[in-house]
Amino acid sequence: MKIAMIGTGYVGLVSGVCFSDFGHEIVCVDKDPAKIEKLERGEVPIYEPGLDALMAKNVEAGRLKFTMDLAAAVDGADAVFIAVGTPTRRGDGHADLSYVMAAAEEIAKVAKDYVVVVTKSTVPVGTNRAVKQVIRKANSALDFDVASNPEFLREGAAIEDFMKPDRVVVGVQNDRAAEVMAAIYRPLYLRDFPIVTTDLESAEMIKYAANAFLATKITFINEIAALCERVGGDVKEVARGIGLDGRIGNKFLHAGPGYGGSCFPKDTKALARIGQEHAVPMQITETVIKVNEEIKRRMIDKLQDLCDGSFNGKTIAVLGVTFKPNTDDMRDAPSLTIIPALVGGGAKVRVVDPQGRHEGEALLPGVHWLDDAYKAAQKADLLVVLTEWNEFRALDLKKLAKKMATPRMADLRNVYAPKDARRAGFTAYESIGRAAFLKDD
Ligand SMILES: NC(=O)c1ccc[n+]([C@@H]2O[C@H](COP(=O)([O-])OP(=O)(O)OC[C@H]3O[C@@H](n4cnc5c(N)ncnc54)[C@H](O)[C@@H]3O)[C@@H](O)[C@H]2O)c1
Repeated sequence: MKIAMIGTGYVGLVSGVCFSDFGHEIVCVDKDPAKIEKLERGEVPIYEPGLDALMAKNVEAGRLKFTMDLAAAVDGADAVFIAVGTPTRRGDGHADLSYVMAAAEEIAKVAKDYVVVVTKSTVPVGTNRAVKQVIRKANSALDFDVASNPEFLREGAAIEDFMKPDRVVVGVQNDRAAEVMAAIYRPLYLRDFPIVTTDLESAEMIKYAANAFLATKITFINEIAALCERVGGDVKEVARGIGLDGRIGNKFLHAGPGYGGSCFPKDTKALARIGQEHAVPMQITETVIKVNEEIKRRMIDKLQDLCDGSFNGKTIAVLGVTFKPNTDDMRDAPSLTIIPALVGGGAKVRVVDPQGRHEGEALLPGVHWLDDAYKAAQKADLLVVLTEWNEFRALDLKKLAKKMATPRMADLRNVYAPKDARRAGFTAYESIGRAAFLKDD
């Protein structure tokens, strides 16, 4: 199959590279010249484990190309995928569809032969029909279909998720488009990965429902964690105890500083907005959004307590700023709420992150970037584990405690055990949903 992929961000680039690895001929298009220049030089503009090698392999094989020339990419393509951003629209929380609609119009103006225009971006119900209208208006003679193909990959594990998905969701209006989509996903179909073929609206809704459900699950365990801190109990044990129930499942039950990232915050807001517009308020999702904001604020209180009530003049070492490990993505990361509160409160903040600096420097003014956790801990008053990168999971706690002015730790990802922190010499250790130190230690 010949495919054009519009947008070479986290989703477009991974999808383009993986489709080319299926054996399809892929041209990836972006309107950002800096991105295309990098890609043409063989550099990957984002951090995603394994993407550079897979990209190089398929470029070498002649199946994967990058361009800013949309017309050339669309010429002769069986399908054109729209994988552009759908960020939160300023002011009202709705998904901003301007990039999707602009891409649809651009495709319509250059397409000549039958093509399936596939929306991979996360979009509200009705968007694919709107895309169809935009294309028809811009090029009434064009023979085309639309398809909805939401993406479920997780940054940091994107290739694995794309190549071995729990399911692929395809929304279509007729067999002709379904056949094109089936041919594109045939390598997965042959290996028995479930392909859910449905109407356009169901496919669009599946994506928002999935993300809102996962955000709810995280927020639920975060709320239980808050209660554990008051009444006792260890949220890790509670999560294990409930997660072993097959009806609940053990994924997305890790208590932490609140969800962030490029999808959950914007998609929950968009779903809430859609519900309000149609007089079917998404009350659970609305509450999740509110509770998640409170959780992030609660983290700031926790850190302030560890700093004897004031950040002023304190030196604080923060380990991890990206919204999760194995990505350089900083969009809506909890660090963007927490770190400015520390800086604003008068703390000297040192930051270590294996991949976050490139994006983070502009977003986190007034912090000092270091490349080593032990250097950051030198004479610090507080150490905060904010993102659980592997390199922060097995630190020498004794060595850290010795270096610090006051050995105190806020482990906001429950990476360490309270008793280990205490034995290593930490005089205060706070985590999420667990007693500060176990009573019997
Ligand atoms: N990031 C994720 O983990 C993830 C997972 C599942 C779904 N999604 C969804 O996928 C979509 C894309 O997300 P992303 O994180 O890859 O976005 P991104 O912001 O990383 O990338 C979007 C890219 O599209 C390009 N672009 C915008 N308009 C264009 C146009 N008209 N022509 C060519 N290029 C254009 C931009 O320059 C940018 O490079 C969103 O709707 C998102 O909700 C994201």
